[in-house]
Amino acid sequence: MPVLIKNGRIITASEDFVADIFIEGEKITTIGKDLSGRADKIINAQDKLVFPGGIDPHVHLDLPVMGIHSRDNFETGTRAALFGGTTTIIDFANQQKGGTLYSALETWHKKAAGNSYCDYSFHVSVTDITKNTKAEIKSLIEQEGITSFKTFMAYKDTLMIDDAAMKAVMEEVKKYGGMVTVHATDGNMIGSQVEKFRLQNNLSPLYHYLSQPDYTESEATGRFIDMAIDTGVNAYVVHLTCTSALERIKQANKNRQLILAETCPQYLLLDADLYKRGEEAVKWILSPPLRTKEDQKSLWTGIQDGYIQTVGTDHCPFMMEDKLKNKEDFTKVPNGIPGIEHRMELLFSEGVLKERISLNKFVEVTSTNAAKIFGLYPQKGDIKVGSDADIVILDSNEKHIISAKTHHHHCDYSAYEGWEVTGKVKSVLLRGKVVLEDDTLKTRKGYGRFLKRAVLDLGKA
Ligand code: URP
Ligand code: ZN
Ligand code: ZN
Repeated sequence: MPVLIKNGRIITASEDFVADIFIEGEKITTIGKDLSGRADKIINAQDKLVFPGGIDPHVHLDLPVMGIHSRDNFETGTRAALFGGTTTIIDFANQQKGGTLYSALETWHKKAAGNSYCDYSFHVSVTDITKNTKAEIKSLIEQEGITSFKTFMAYKDTLMIDDAAMKAVMEEVKKYGGMVTVHATDGNMIGSQVEKFRLQNNLSPLYHYLSQPDYTESEATGRFIDMAIDTGVNAYVVHLTCTSALERIKQANKNRQLILAETCPQYLLLDADLYKRGEEAVKWILSPPLRTKEDQKSLWTGIQDGYIQTVGTDHCPFMMEDKLKNKEDFTKVPNGIPGIEHRMELLFSEGVLKERISLNKFVEVTSTNAAKIFGLYPQKGDIKVGSDADIVILDSNEKHIISAKTHHHHCDYSAYEGWEVTGKVKSVLLRGKVVLEDDTLKTRKGYGRFLKRAVLDLGKA
C-alpha cells in the first residue's frame, strides 16, 4: 500500500530540508518536492519533524533476574517502543553458565518470534568460556547475523568474566570483524564495597549507589580499552555514566583507537540525589547507579563532541512489589528501570529544545549511529531512497506529561513520573506500514521482524 508523506521537515544525521517521501512496499522510493504518485494513504506532515525510526541498541525484555523476569516481554516492550518512535531494538541473549551461545540465542528467538511489534536483533552475552565458544562466535557472526558480543566486568559470581576470558572473546570476535561490548564496572571492587556495607548493616538503597563509586567504572573502562587496543577488536562501552570513564574513552580516541560508547537518558537526566528518598529509592536501583549533575554535563558534552555515539535505554523494568520485596537489602533488589518508550521524546525535549544537542545529533544518537555500529545501515537509520521506510513524525510543540498512568510499559511506576516533555510522536511507520497514529496502534504483534546484522563497516560509519 503506497504511502505519501507530504511537506515534512526531514531531519537526518546530516540534512535538514522540507520535502515529500514516497513509500512503496517496505522501502522509501522517492524523496522530493511536490510528489504526487498514487498513494493509498497520504500523511500531511506540514510543520512536523520527520526522523528515521529510532533504534534502541540496549534493552532487556523478559530477562531472568534474581528469580523473576524483567516485566516487559517482547509483546509489551516492543509495543511501548513504538509509542515512543523506536522501530528497532537490540536485546541481549544471555548465555547460561555452562550453556552454549547458540542455546541462548535460541531461547531469545523463542521469546521474540511472533510477539514483537517492532523489528529486533540480539547481542549475545558471553558469560562462560567453554570448549565451543570460539566455534560458536565464528558461526554466530557468519551464519546467524549476530555480530556483537556482550561481556560483563561486573556481577561477580553470575555474569562476570575475568580478563583472560575477555581477551579470548576479543581475539575470536576480532578474527571475523565483530564487536565486543561491555558492562564496564569492576565486579571485584564493587563486591568488596558491598561486603563492607553488609558488615556495617548498611543495606538501604543509598548503599547501592555508594557501593559503585565512579572509579569502579573508570578503572574497568580503562582496562577494557587496554585489552581492546591490544587485540584490535571493535569495542563499545554500554551505559557509560560518568566523567572519569568518559576521560578514558577520550584518551583512547586521541590515541587513534576507535572505542565507541553509549549512554542512557537516565544518566543524562536523573541524578544520585534520588537515592536520598528512603525506600522510594528502590525505583532507581540500576547498575551502574545514577551519578552526579556534573557527570550529566560531561555526558552531554561527550555526545556533542562525538565521543558518545548512541543513547540506548537499558530498559529493564520491574514492578514496585519486585523492587520493594527486599528493600532492606539492596543486593536483593532486581536492577533496572523502565524507559524504552520515552528515549526519543526525552532526548528531543531535554536535548534538542534545551540546545544541548542539534537536531542532526539527535538523529545520530537515537538512530543512525546505532544502525552503522551494529550492522544495520543503510537498511535502517536513515531517510534515503532504498532504506526501509521506518519513519517517525513528531509534533515539536505538543506538550505531555510522563506518567505510569499513561505509559505503555508493563510497569507500575515511571522513572520520570510527572516530567513534562515538549514534542510528541504523532505517527510511526515501520517498513512502510503505519504502525502508530495519534496514540493508536495500527499493527499487530508479530509484525516485527528479526534482523540479521552485518559486521561494522568503517567505510559506512
Ligand atoms: O541495572 C541494570 N542496568 N540492569 C540490566 C542489566 C545491565 O546491567 O545492563
Ligand atoms: Zn549493564
Ligand atoms: Zn543492560
